[in-house]
Amino acid sequence: MTQTNDSLLEQAKQGRTHAQAPYSKFKVGSALLSSDGRIFTGCNVESSSYGLTICSERVALFKALSEGATSFTRIVVVADTQELTAPCGACRQVLWDFCRDIEVILSNLQGQSRALRLAQLFPVPFGDHLF
Ligand code: THU
Repeated sequence: MTQTNDSLLEQAKQGRTHAQAPYSKFKVGSALLSSDGRIFTGCNVESSSYGLTICSERVALFKALSEGATSFTRIVVVADTQELTAPCGACRQVLWDFCRDIEVILSNLQGQSRALRLAQLFPVPFGDHLF
């Protein structure tokens, strides 16, 4: 099954509507496409103990892993910003760990988007030499 970027973006926007962001007010949504055609959405979930917050991208990835998906091709990330929002450093590491050089599509609610590879965002990853 193929998923267009448009349908993935719609799913990412839908995921974003579930964001729990009472502290930052910054809502982020993600849609992660697995190689078997499934889509896993994510939103950021904030804690009153701020450091326990988890980003949208990792929510989508951990949902996917917990449901048995192990191979991924693309992730769309959407926020309501003028400048496109890129995954934070922690998410780049975890995405690299499980998705390698996945396509990362950054989008905003105004209809702008940009496609990158994770290797462009995270060119010198930790961990490749360990195993
Ligand atoms: N956030 C994400 O969900 N994804 C990112 O790539 C950047 C940051 C969230 C975490 C926090 O809830 C809020 O945005 C502000 O940092």
